Amino acid sequence: MKNYIIADEWNIIEEGFDPHLNKISESIFSLGNGHMGQRANFEEAYSGDTLPGNYVAGVYYPDKTRVGWWKNGYPEYFAKVLNAANWIGIDIAIDGEQLDLAKCKVSSFKRVLNMRDGYLERSFTAELKSGKKLSVIAKRFCSIVDEEAGAISYAITPLNFDGDITVTPFIDGDVSNADSNYDEKFWDEVDKKAAGQGCYLTLRTRKTGFEVCTGNRVEVVNDGSETNVEVRHVLKDKYVAFVFDVAVKQNQTTTIYKYAANVSSQNYEPVQLLDACKKVIAKVSAKGFDTMLAEQAAAWHHKWAESDIVIAGDVKAQQGIRFNIFQLSQTYSGKDARLNIGPKGFTGEKYGGSTYWDTEAYCVPFYLGTAAPEVTKNLLIYRYKQLGKAIENAEKLGFNKGAALYPMVTMNGEECHNEWEITFEEIHRNGAIAYAIFNYIRYTGDSSYLNDYGLEVLIGIARFWKQRVNWSSQKSQYVMLGVTGPNEYENNVNNNWYTSTLATWCMAYAMKAMDYVKKHDAAKYASLTKAINFNEADEIKQWQHIIDNMYYGEDKDLGIFLQQDNFLDKEIIHVKDLPAADRPLNQKWSWDRILRSCFIKQADVLQGMYFFSDRYNMDTLRRNYEFYEPLTVHESSLSPCIHAILASKLGLEQDAYNFYLRTSRLDLDDYNNDTEDGCHITSMAGTWMSVVEGFAGMQVVNEQLTFSPFLPEHWQSYSFNIRFRGVLVNIKVDRGGVHLSNTSAAAISVNVFDDAYQLNPGKDTTVKYKPKNG
Ligand code: BGC
Repeated sequence: MKNYIIADEWNIIEEGFDPHLNKISESIFSLGNGHMGQRANFEEAYSGDTLPGNYVAGVYYPDKTRVGWWKNGYPEYFAKVLNAANWIGIDIAIDGEQLDLAKCKVSSFKRVLNMRDGYLERSFTAELKSGKKLSVIAKRFCSIVDEEAGAISYAITPLNFDGDITVTPFIDGDVSNADSNYDEKFWDEVDKKAAGQGCYLTLRTRKTGFEVCTGNRVEVVNDGSETNVEVRHVLKDKYVAFVFDVAVKQNQTTTIYKYAANVSSQNYEPVQLLDACKKVIAKVSAKGFDTMLAEQAAAWHHKWAESDIVIAGDVKAQQGIRFNIFQLSQTYSGKDARLNIGPKGFTGEKYGGSTYWDTEAYCVPFYLGTAAPEVTKNLLIYRYKQLGKAIENAEKLGFNKGAALYPMVTMNGEECHNEWEITFEEIHRNGAIAYAIFNYIRYTGDSSYLNDYGLEVLIGIARFWKQRVNWSSQKSQYVMLGVTGPNEYENNVNNNWYTSTLATWCMAYAMKAMDYVKKHDAAKYASLTKAINFNEADEIKQWQHIIDNMYYGEDKDLGIFLQQDNFLDKEIIHVKDLPAADRPLNQKWSWDRILRSCFIKQADVLQGMYFFSDRYNMDTLRRNYEFYEPLTVHESSLSPCIHAILASKLGLEQDAYNFYLRTSRLDLDDYNNDTEDGCHITSMAGTWMSVVEGFAGMQVVNEQLTFSPFLPEHWQSYSFNIRFRGVLVNIKVDRGGVHLSNTSAAAISVNVFDDAYQLNPGKDTTVKYKPKNG
């Protein structure tokens, strides 16, 4: 846990340079725009501890997995988003001595991530060994207006000398991934060019053959006016640079502007890449840095107007939630259905930038509530496009044709997990994909999604579950053997309650979807069922038989669902009784000891009670929460938000608040000592869920938005917008009650504390509190 980020409502601020914190700050101060992103590495050379990171969305490499004993069904590779060409580099040298913060005296160091306007600013004063002192102010951003572009302004002021500064802006493609399984390099050079103020480098990924052309244009403004400098070009293997000398005067500022672009063969034919890159650079450099930044700020203000959560009375909580929303919005813009959200976004290499069930279970609610429906729809279409691979994936594991098993980790639809032994039986991921379709439709009302895409996916998933269960003649019920639930601290268990519950729900939902499509688009239904050889009468009968006869573990005395068979044979110890030195278990205990213990990594039974909250009454929820929560170590960042939501529902307000705190500043305060690897992007959506679905108690019940809010003790108020079926509702919760307004053209009816209110456009409504469970 660290405490060095200065509290501020709109900015993330670090003051003073501590090299030990550098890799953490590189993660926290990361930038992105959905198309590309980067860690907050320095522009100038830095020989200290650093994790270089520049990423282009969707450009990955299938790194061969490392496995001791290869078994059938193992994924051949672990896909990873590659560390791509470094386009930010600007080396600075004075009299041959390089500016390198690891080697000079640094003062007045400050980093500010301006979340309102969407840019990073870093300033410092450095004294070189020669005694020469200079101050630098560097600003940069990845444009959310021109998504293939980024820009830097790097302003240098000599503080105690006149003379020449040698400046080398460069593009360096000789980069590697720190997490490469076999220390391989992943890029080959295709081409490079340098002429005048522009230079370009095209690289191709090995095996996958993606090509990316990275370009730079450099301008120099000396003492307020653009200066023509004599540029030399340096071309080396996978490297292009300009070198020039600028004559500087004490206290006069020279600014180097660097306009950059990354264009990839995902969007252009390889032969067009250089031209496309030149065009982007020409467009943005014609705008100029200040105009680009003004456009960036305006675009961010627009995003904030829709997605902000405003908290009054707690600056750290405000900073925390905005940081989460900012990072999520930087990671995924929803414009391209080929892209998805890696658990670390563009902030690090861990988890390979690949797609996990995190997207459907955690990110989808955030984008549904805060962005246009197309954003979530693209996330769903991503999986729709990968249905063929999901079917192949199931076939590889021995299932009959037509069953779809979505991968635990993927880039292109193929399974590519590096830790297959633990996760291959986490088939619950298949259910999350179906659940996201359901969630999308209940929020947006866009049931036609089922006709065009949804039904086919749902049938594939239902067919998988049908084959995955078996009839137990001993129980005279269906069972599901050899699974791993979300709680990865149990492997290969029988009858995981969450997975079985989700499986039968998927089959029932697929049947509902069929009825819908049959009724609304009979021709589509006929052509689809023919194409996939769907034998309606037989298959539905089998699904229904499973739904009616599935076995779910339960302990009637305790009144709880059993996470898996024989869970109660374990020695039940509460987390609070564990010595602090034993935590986190995944670092302190052997895997064997973890698997035998009762400790739960992340919400499992409770994840199911969250998904299907309308099925369980308060007493059932309370009994399960009271049993499982004390056993949960929350060693996945995806866990506390689910507990925050359920605790809110149960009126356990302080517990809910404590869970919220765990996620909202998880990275800012380096809670788990792992922020240097990157930020926990997918769990950031959980922070949003904790406020909206937890504190405000928002749910969709019977096609209506419902709220049941409370105000955390430490806050004066909180407010947010929520999109629902074309209407934008603002909700503010303060000591006086719950204030709702409708800023759209159409009216909407919402439920607050179980009473219905008609929100007409432009009309404000205030609802007084009702005691919970009263
Ligand atoms: C969690 C998984 C999650 C993955 C990526 C793991 O630690 O147990 O549920 O999908 O991280 O966030």
